[in-house]
Amino acid sequence: MSEDLFKKIISHSKEYGFVFPSSEIYDGLASVYDYGQNGVLLVNNIKEYWWKSMVQMHENIVGIDSAIFMHPKVWKASGHVDAFNDPLIDNKDSKKRYRADVLIEEHIAKIQDKIDKEVDKAAKRFENFDKTMFLTTNPRVVEYAEKIKTIEARFKNALENNDLDDLRQIIIDLEIVCPVSGSKNWTEVRQFNLMFSTQIGSLAEDSDKIYLRPETAQGIFVNFLNVLNTSRQRIPFGIAQIGKAFRNEIVARQFIFRMREFEQMEMQFFIKPGTQKEFYEYWKSQRMAWHQRLGISKEKYKFHDHIKTAHYADAAVDIEFEFPFGFKELEGIHSRTDFDLTQHQNLSGKKLQYFDPELNESYVPYVVETSVGVSRLFLSVLTGAYQVEAMPNNEERVVLKIHPTLAPYKVAILPLVKKDGLPEKAKEIFDSLKLDFYAQYDEKDSIGKRYRRQDAIGTPFCVTIDHQTLEDHQVTIRHRDTMEQTRIPIADLPATIAKHTSWNNLLV
Ligand code: GAP
Repeated sequence: MSEDLFKKIISHSKEYGFVFPSSEIYDGLASVYDYGQNGVLLVNNIKEYWWKSMVQMHENIVGIDSAIFMHPKVWKASGHVDAFNDPLIDNKDSKKRYRADVLIEEHIAKIQDKIDKEVDKAAKRFENFDKTMFLTTNPRVVEYAEKIKTIEARFKNALENNDLDDLRQIIIDLEIVCPVSGSKNWTEVRQFNLMFSTQIGSLAEDSDKIYLRPETAQGIFVNFLNVLNTSRQRIPFGIAQIGKAFRNEIVARQFIFRMREFEQMEMQFFIKPGTQKEFYEYWKSQRMAWHQRLGISKEKYKFHDHIKTAHYADAAVDIEFEFPFGFKELEGIHSRTDFDLTQHQNLSGKKLQYFDPELNESYVPYVVETSVGVSRLFLSVLTGAYQVEAMPNNEERVVLKIHPTLAPYKVAILPLVKKDGLPEKAKEIFDSLKLDFYAQYDEKDSIGKRYRRQDAIGTPFCVTIDHQTLEDHQVTIRHRDTMEQTRIPIADLPATIAKHTSWNNLLV
């Protein structure tokens, strides 16, 4: 994993129509991106995977689609007006701005890396290597672990007490330098609210100020009663939503990992108070298994417990993925208690309670939330799929081994040559498939070049029509991952493609 790989993935995304910088002809808009002709298909498939597994596969989860604009009191109640801040620090020499908490977390991650390296080295050296024993007895590793513990305790304390001076002091004490200037010449740390605001109506008065939602979750909370009263759902049940969210991220510069406009796929699971631990564990394991079904190495995923939980949560964990720039948050699972519903109940004056027929009493439900960003998932899929393989004659092929069900196009139809009736036959096959599968027809360039083009966008099947096809009604089907080619009857194409690209492969 490296910066080099990251650069390659970024340029591949652009070259093959997955991701474009926003407003590029005007030099782009920082941390805002557009999906191209292949990217949008991958995005749609990612969202469909999530929606099907949440809403279609769960009798007790329903979906909604709430508006981006909401009453401004929503954000007061949720705590976002007062507490949705990032602690920022500037380096006076490079004039670059950083999140103080991220600088410290990265420092901790570097020490953890050293421990991992020592473990790897020792595991290679000794047969019957006992990792637990090694972690508790090797003096160097114990020293690193102690260091992490001390920093984490102080860091947690500073975050919990909103002690910005100590956050700065931790950075100074750890001798963290600016990656650009290399200097330790830091400003004070100050809080920066991440919400974008705008005005509704024609008057620019304070009461008209509204926000672009920074999370989709609140649209679910304010619709809790509506769904409860209009569906046959009983606790425990969930409400799911996919939609845009906006955050004025200051430390962006991470391609589509951290954007100012992005999409979230969030599900709030409403439960009886006291059962939150059980459902928190349940959703943790469900969500990890969901990611791991995509066929990317399981080693690339891990849980990371939050050092400081958000203002609304009593427990929180990230599913982290090993992006080219290291392990980073892919999805968050939060035990949100009854914080949000209680806050909305208090500020709106409307009862947001559930009458439990078994207990014969009403209560404000507790909530376990799962929340994942579409673009982070997209980047994890690209990272897991991107491979450069050596080919004969010193050539190489770049291939995206995306799970076939998520691949933008399922099949490419390629006449071997542009004459002798092959294009006509190929078009006929293309037309017979395009209703059921995203298919491409391509007759330009050599067959090898056309295969490479499809490999680069992750198309699982290439179907070649040759002269023999006109006689025996068979085609050559080439498998993207193995490059294996087999001859099958045209009539078998739909079933073959369907078998490999069906949602069954991910959902059942
Ligand atoms: N409702 C809870 C919530 O919003 P979060 O941890 O702030 O929690 C949840 O965000 C997920 O949304 C993250 O795990 C990430 O996948 C995605 N996300 C958050 N900020 C993002 C950003 N600036 N760009 C892209 N994705 C983002």
